[in-house]
Amino acid sequence: MRSARQTIDAIRAGDLSGAASYHELPDRARRAVLVSFNDADLPLLTRLINDWRRTLFARGEERFRAIAKGRIRTPVYLMHEALIEENMRTLRYVKDRTGCRILHALKSYASFATFPVMTQYLDGVCASGVYEARLGREKFAKEVHTFGAAYKKSEMRDILRYSDVVVFNSFHQLDIYGDAARRTGRGIGLRVNPGYSEIATPMYDPCAPCSRLGVVHNEFAGAFPSRSRLIDGLHFHAMCEQGSDVLERVLGSFEKLYGPFIKDLAWVNFGGGHHITRDDYDIERLVRLINGFKRKYGVQVYLEPGEASVYHAGALVSSVIDIVKNQMEIAIMDASAEAHMPDVLLMPYRPHIFGSAGPGVKAHTYRLAGPSCLAGDTIGDYSFDAPLQRGDKVVFTDMALYSIVKNTTFNGIALPGIAVIRTDGTVDTVKRFGYRDYKNRQS
Ligand SMILES: Cc1ncc(COP(=O)(O)O)c(C=O)c1O
Repeated sequence: MRSARQTIDAIRAGDLSGAASYHELPDRARRAVLVSFNDADLPLLTRLINDWRRTLFARGEERFRAIAKGRIRTPVYLMHEALIEENMRTLRYVKDRTGCRILHALKSYASFATFPVMTQYLDGVCASGVYEARLGREKFAKEVHTFGAAYKKSEMRDILRYSDVVVFNSFHQLDIYGDAARRTGRGIGLRVNPGYSEIATPMYDPCAPCSRLGVVHNEFAGAFPSRSRLIDGLHFHAMCEQGSDVLERVLGSFEKLYGPFIKDLAWVNFGGGHHITRDDYDIERLVRLINGFKRKYGVQVYLEPGEASVYHAGALVSSVIDIVKNQMEIAIMDASAEAHMPDVLLMPYRPHIFGSAGPGVKAHTYRLAGPSCLAGDTIGDYSFDAPLQRGDKVVFTDMALYSIVKNTTFNGIALPGIAVIRTDGTVDTVKRFGYRDYKNRQS
């Protein structure tokens, strides 16, 4: 391992390996590296960290493809542990620069087989309810912050048992459960509607008209003062796959509405939707926003990204079962959009396949579709250099997030297995599902 001094020299020389050795250093040495740079020079380190990550992800693509060419049983989600770790390192860099705390959103990805490479870097998890809170406590074993749109009385005991912080979505719920949370020593938060978002799809927009998510400002201003002793922090979430430019505008609106109430709080949670590990994400702006906010209000800042943790670090490998013709060639896969990649239909979006292009770009175009009875179970139209054959495998990229956690057994289709490419390069099949998994959910 290089010393802090050698790391600083490598970074100053613009050497990519400077980013790699920064990540390897222990906490104190990383701090020493950061203080040796002035604010004007730190963007150089940020750029190297992003370039280094890009280099590793390019290598990761080759590994995904090589494994798919081998004998791996499909359909299977293939997680790349070293790539997840690299995303973690980028998130920790944001923590290093700001002192903020970062929670992984379990709703996006909860495959605990890879948690060992995540727990070293992050502060804990955010959970959407009692099961995620329990999984977070059992498998992540750091902070657990739980937010649910409404908690049932019957689950509150376990919510309090497994959570360090409970975030309420209404003053009514705060009034009925707040004292119990205090008595058990739990932190208490309130989710508010920041009054601004830039999400085009209403389905994903927590600030869309009539949204149930977060107390609105009018109500907050009247009810907060008499309950402020019960509330440690405010939480907002209003972003989806967005950059820090959007956060700046959301934060502007949040501050305008709630700024006068923040100074006696302990923390503010900026929610998820921060695409921090995307190549074009402006980390410097995020750092400026968090540091500025902390200076102004003297509170701790939390982020709770989900996608950013595993962005492009997992794939879904699927085989062509059959090819049929109806005005075009249609490849029927052993993975389903409906059951295994639901956001493809919901968002909708077209996942990338390694080695493919848009329809008509390469010599052979196919519609890729799932095996279910749903007429619309189609993944998209793709072209390839060579004709697809029955038995060929294709690799859908960026499939770790919002996939496994949302899977169904619709039509009794088998759930894809889960395999992990470990940091030592071995492939570890951690889960296979079968008939019993389908049957047990029916009655
Ligand atoms: C309250 C909350 N926090 C965090 C997240 C994670 O968001 P993402 O995975 O887009 O970063 C979500 C996503 O819906 C959310 O609703």
